[in-house]
Amino acid sequence: MKPKSCDPKSCETCPGKEKMSKEESVQCKLARIKNKLIVMSGKGGVGKSSVATYLSLSLARKGYKVGLLDIDLHGPSIPKMLGLHGVLNVTTDQQIVPHQYRPNLKVVSIESMLEDADTAVIWRGPLKHGVITQFLAECQWGDLDFLVVDCPPGTGDEPLSIARLIPDAMAVIVTTPQEVALSDVRKSINFCRKVSLEIAGLVENMSGLYCPHCQQFIPIFRTGGGKRTAERMKLFYLGELPFDPAVVEGGDEGTPVLEIEGDTAFKQAVEHFTDRVLERLRESSDDRPSQDKTIH
Ligand SMILES: Nc1ncnc2c1ncn2[C@@H]1O[C@H](COP(=O)(O)OP(=O)(O)OP(=O)(O)O)[C@@H](O)[C@H]1O
Ligand SMILES: [Mg+2]
Ligand SMILES: [Zn+2]
Repeated sequence: MKPKSCDPKSCETCPGKEKMSKEESVQCKLARIKNKLIVMSGKGGVGKSSVATYLSLSLARKGYKVGLLDIDLHGPSIPKMLGLHGVLNVTTDQQIVPHQYRPNLKVVSIESMLEDADTAVIWRGPLKHGVITQFLAECQWGDLDFLVVDCPPGTGDEPLSIARLIPDAMAVIVTTPQEVALSDVRKSINFCRKVSLEIAGLVENMSGLYCPHCQQFIPIFRTGGGKRTAERMKLFYLGELPFDPAVVEGGDEGTPVLEIEGDTAFKQAVEHFTDRVLERLRESSDDRPSQDKTIH
């Protein structure tokens, strides 16, 4: 039986706190999180951090308890996108207290743990794995419906660490419609298959623009590439998000567009994408009768 509470003093299945290894603490923390999603892509700048942020916000707006974890040790961008400042508090028993962005949305980024946001961080592989393990072991997430993890570009140390530490996670692969981005997607897919990380599906970002004057859709690059790749690679297609200049502004100002009044094509697309993710997770939990994947 899974421990209900992972306070080691009251948890029958957990060893005493002093005896717990970092990996055991990670498993204890993860037992309280129902669904884990890793947002990744073989390519930089395709919108992973934006997708992770908007998915987390959208899930939180639907009432789920959400945690957003930024493990991009070289260029963390989540705090900037959400306008979060300051270092995180650490309790006397070494627990990292996440930023409380909303009552049901907690955020932790490596940046929040650095004194100076502009410090260039040079981490070697084993060090990175140690930091990510520590994050997972010491973050005070509590009970969550979703943990959304924002990865750096590529298929390097961070996605590898996180895939090993959270074996029941599912990957959300982000792409843009260009052919070059799609070849990187194939790399991500191969990576996931190699490390046995289940893929939730593929989302195409910046897949065109709605003219702000006449609202006509302008396919800047060839459209439909994400969908075609998903079909070809037998992946679930999670939909597409249009290019919206307000997303760039919102990202720079720390005010995500979901927090701004008014209906837009981008907001509708985020809603559709979130519903597709939920649909996919429901299907997946029907396929595998695992307690951890149920959505209520
Ligand atoms: N749908 C969109 N419409 C307009 N701008 C977008 C959209 N998605 C992302 N952007 C912008 O593109 C830039 C890159 O996005 P983001 O930082 O999310 O990408 P990333 O894949 O996380 O990058 P990195 O590989 O550096 O981590 C940002 O300025 C962001 O505001
Ligand atoms: Mg990023
Ligand atoms: Zn127009």
